[in-house]
Amino acid sequence: MHKLEVKLGDRDPFMTEISGKKALFYELEAQGFVMDTGCLAGSCGLCKVEILTGIDNFNAAGVVEQGTIDAVTIDERQWRMSCCAHVTGSVSIAGNVISN
Ligand code: FES
Repeated sequence: MHKLEVKLGDRDPFMTEISGKKALFYELEAQGFVMDTGCLAGSCGLCKVEILTGIDNFNAAGVVEQGTIDAVTIDERQWRMSCCAHVTGSVSIAGNVISN
């Protein structure tokens, strides 16, 4: 299990643990958090999460996701698509949640 600090929308950050076996979107969904989503294939960018710490503790982005990351990156902030990103170690993220 990997430690995950999550800041969703304007809610207070919370700590949880995830296995990394599923993409971050599905891991959070299993814990009751539904995030904004669209293609579920790394191309639309709706499920993006900002990586606050631990950018090296993710699987490598595939070609499609990397193209989306490049498209949404406009400053020094780091992004992953939660529908594609698998956690491999401790990370801290921020993203939007639409319900839980
Ligand atoms: S839902 Fe489209 S990139 Fe994740």
